[in-house]
Amino acid sequence: MEESGNTSKAENEQFIKVTENGPYLVTGGVPLAEQIIQVDSDNECHGWQEGKKYAEQESYKLCRCGKSVNKPFCTGMHAVTKFKGEETASRKPYAEQAKTYEGPELTLTDAEDLCASARFCHRAGGTWNLTEQSADPEARKTAIEEACDCPSGRLVAHDNQGNAIEPKFTPSIGVGKRPAGRERMDRCGCGVASP
Ligand code: SF4
Ligand code: FES
Repeated sequence: MEESGNTSKAENEQFIKVTENGPYLVTGGVPLAEQIIQVDSDNECHGWQEGKKYAEQESYKLCRCGKSVNKPFCTGMHAVTKFKGEETASRKPYAEQAKTYEGPELTLTDAEDLCASARFCHRAGGTWNLTEQSADPEARKTAIEEACDCPSGRLVAHDNQGNAIEPKFTPSIGVGKRPAGRERMDRCGCGVASP
């Protein structure tokens, strides 16, 4: 009992604060590791592999301005470049943002504005088509894999009882990386990518 009490206290302390015109301030010893996108033989995104794990720290600052000289950590460049962190996100709940796509054995919800252009939803004809074809167990399985691999939270697969099918994660932060050679094939989401 004591152990679970301690665990829940530690979890409660984990926090990410968006600082004004500065970095993300992470507290509570949140694990940090690279997560590398995997591609299949058709060059479609399919799954993640954990890469480098960063040393555990009780608190740390992650770069938000994109100009750090030691990414993913903040090196103070936001002050040098006079970064204006004015971008905001909608606070509308996911259920109010999402459209619903019904298939015979699967329902897909899709909040398009959340897309991070990671392209896991393109494989085997795409998650929407696979949902339509979900009477086929293989199509259903692939649609679920794609929705679960999507890093943005845009896509959620639901069973016919309306339960979301989601992977279970422990709290952590992943630094997303594309495999070597893929960088130029993917659309930059933020508009500041180097060629
Ligand atoms: S919906 Fe998800 S998997 Fe598809 S492109 Fe957007 S972020 Fe990627
Ligand atoms: S936010 Fe500090 S270097 Fe980018």
